[in-house]
Amino acid sequence: MLEPFSLAGYAIEIQYGSQRIFAQDGERLLDTLLSAGIDHRHICGGRGFCTSCRVEILAGGEGLSPVSPLERERLGADAGRLRLACQAVVRGKVHARVPAPRAARFSPFGDDDVKAHGRAD
Ligand code: FES
Repeated sequence: MLEPFSLAGYAIEIQYGSQRIFAQDGERLLDTLLSAGIDHRHICGGRGFCTSCRVEILAGGEGLSPVSPLERERLGADAGRLRLACQAVVRGKVHARVPAPRAARFSPFGDDDVKAHGRAD
């Protein structure tokens, strides 16, 4: 069970070598990942266009800001299960799976997406 580590921050469990990182309340999830040294893709620079920053929410989706209209447009029916790290703001505890950096070792869109982007192995 994840516990807040301070009054202003939250533990975020990231399935990325089973790291647990910490975020400040109101911080963009992308900024949290980058600040933790995770080389997370964000091809469009965090503008919500490319979807390269998507992460899979395993639990605690309510610990993020509500899914934005832009995320619904970009992620379709997967919005909510998937989030754009550049659009999601941390509000509480989250458990998310983050793809390997700059390659699709894991893809929430399936094997075709992995083939399209290559593997990091
Ligand atoms: S960085 Fe492009 S959609 Fe998030």
